[in-house]
Amino acid sequence: MTEDTNFAQLSPRLSLGDAEPDRNLALELVRVTEAAAIASSPWVGLGDKNAADGAAVDAMRSLLSTVRFNGVVVIGEGEKDEAPMLFNGERVGDGNGPEVDVAVDPIDGTRLTALGINNALSVLAVAERGSMLDPSAVFYMEKLVTGPEAADLVDLRLPVKQNLHLIAKAKNKPISQVTVCVLDRPRHQGLIEDIRSAGARTKIILDGDVAGAIAATREDTGVDALMGIGGTPEGIVSACAIRALGGVIQGRLWPQDDDEKQRAIDAGHDLDQVLTTTDLVTSDNCYFAATGITDGDLLRGVRYKDNTIRTQSIVMRSKSGTIRFVDGEHQARKWEPYVR
Ligand code: FBP
Repeated sequence: MTEDTNFAQLSPRLSLGDAEPDRNLALELVRVTEAAAIASSPWVGLGDKNAADGAAVDAMRSLLSTVRFNGVVVIGEGEKDEAPMLFNGERVGDGNGPEVDVAVDPIDGTRLTALGINNALSVLAVAERGSMLDPSAVFYMEKLVTGPEAADLVDLRLPVKQNLHLIAKAKNKPISQVTVCVLDRPRHQGLIEDIRSAGARTKIILDGDVAGAIAATREDTGVDALMGIGGTPEGIVSACAIRALGGVIQGRLWPQDDDEKQRAIDAGHDLDQVLTTTDLVTSDNCYFAATGITDGDLLRGVRYKDNTIRTQSIVMRSKSGTIRFVDGEHQARKWEPYVR
C-alpha cells in the first residue's frame, strides 16, 4: 500500500457539492479575516469608522481574490452602507474550485473600532452556492439566539418571560442567573424591561451582535441568550457560525416602514414566518472565520510587539463541527501594503 493510499483512507474527501476537496477552506478564510483585522487596527480609537471600514474592506477584498473558490457575495457591505466594494452580487475568489455564497462583514462593530471599545470582529462566512437567505429586502431582523441546551424549546413567538424560563430550566439554573445580550437601542426599551421583570439579567452591548450571538451559544461566556432587533445580514452570518457551534438562531424580518414591508412581500417573504438557523443558511457545509480587531470576550484584538503583529481568530466548519482558535504572529513588514 502506498503512502498516498494510506493518507486517502485516513482523510475522507469532503467536498462542497461536486467540487474538489475543500478541507483547507476554513483555514484559508482565516487569512482573509486576519488581513481585514490587521488593516483596520491602526484606526482603532481614532474616531473614524468609515476609514476603519474602508481599510478592512480593501484588505478583505484583496485577500479574497487569492482564495481558491468561485464565490458570489450574497451578504455584502450592501445597500445599508452604499459600499462600492464587496457589494451584493460581486464575484470573489480566484474563480476556481467550489461555487459558494460568501457573506462578508469586514468589521462587525465599526463604531466599536472607531471608539476603541471591546468586541469588534472581522467576519467571513462561506456556504454552498444558493444556500444563504438573500437579506436585501429587509435590513433588520428580530432575533433569538441560545445554545444547544434550549435550542429545541425556545420560540420567538412566545413571550420573553416564557422563553427565559425555558432557558433557565434547560440550563438547570435559576432565572436570576440567566443573562441576555441586547443591543443598546431605544427600540429595545420594552424588551429590556421584560427581561428584567422576568428576573433575568441583561448584558447591554453598544454594537456587534455577531459576537453576541456566538457568546449566547457557547458555554462559560456568561451569556445565555441574545434577543432583539439587529441587522439581517449579521443574522445570516451568525447562522453560519451557529451551524458549527450548535444552538439556534430564530429570526423574523422586521421592516421599518410600509415601503420596506411591501418590498419584502414582493420579494416573496412571509413576514410572520419564524426563520430558523437552517432557513437562514440551508447548507450544512458552511465555514465561518472571525478575527478580533479590538479585545473581546471571545477573541483578543490585534496587538503589536516589536516587528510582529499578533492576531487571534476562531474558525469553524459546520460539516465536521470543528472549532479552532488560531493565534497568528505576522511579520509587520509584510503587512505594510495593507496598513495605513
Ligand atoms: P456595523 O459595524 O456594520 O455598524 O454593524 C454593527 C451592528 O451593531 C451589528 O452588529 C448589528 O446587527 C447592527 O449594527 C444593528 O444595526 P443598527 O446599528 O442600525 O441598530
